[in-house]
Amino acid sequence: MSKEAILEAVASEVKACTRCSLWRSRKNAVPGEGDSNAKVMFVGEAPGYWEDVKGKPFVGAAGKFLDSLLVEAGLLRRQVFIGNVLKCRPPGNREPAPDEIEACASFLDRQIMAIRPKLIITLGNYSTAYIFAKAGIPFKGVTEARGKFYQANVLGLALTVFPTLHPAAGLYSAKYKQLLMEDFRLLRVKIHELGLTA
Ligand code: URA
Repeated sequence: MSKEAILEAVASEVKACTRCSLWRSRKNAVPGEGDSNAKVMFVGEAPGYWEDVKGKPFVGAAGKFLDSLLVEAGLLRRQVFIGNVLKCRPPGNREPAPDEIEACASFLDRQIMAIRPKLIITLGNYSTAYIFAKAGIPFKGVTEARGKFYQANVLGLALTVFPTLHPAAGLYSAKYKQLLMEDFRLLRVKIHELGLTA
């Protein structure tokens, strides 16, 4: 099966998924999107209001900010793949529940294994905890982990993990906005070093 076929299969399963209770309140599932040959993959937490309406990741206010951060890192949205730990919106944007993360896990894992990225950027606590657990890296919270590059083995793939804050944090705190900008500037340098530009 080609990687495109795997990603399509995952997306159709996600759209029909009833593995946890979130399907009852969703308007649209959000499988994730981007280049199936992406070397750089972003992992967010869960769809919010606009993602649920449109069925696409990071299309609300946090997504607009992410777009400007991508520019900071010298990346185009169409060069990367953007996914989430949860594929359906938790009502009222509450935090993901452990049983929801577990029920959804195989979708993200299959996306990672199909894409085989060289660099995974985790956005916020939940996605960092998720990827660190896969890599066997101890995790104390994203504010401590952020802004550093970790050589890791994730699902049998040797790659670099770069945790940063969730872009939504930069919308309510000038300090977090600053930290996000700093992290994405570091990312720009690393992407050049690793030769990950298109
Ligand atoms: N926040 C996320 O974590 N993911 C999205 O897709 C949108 C907002």
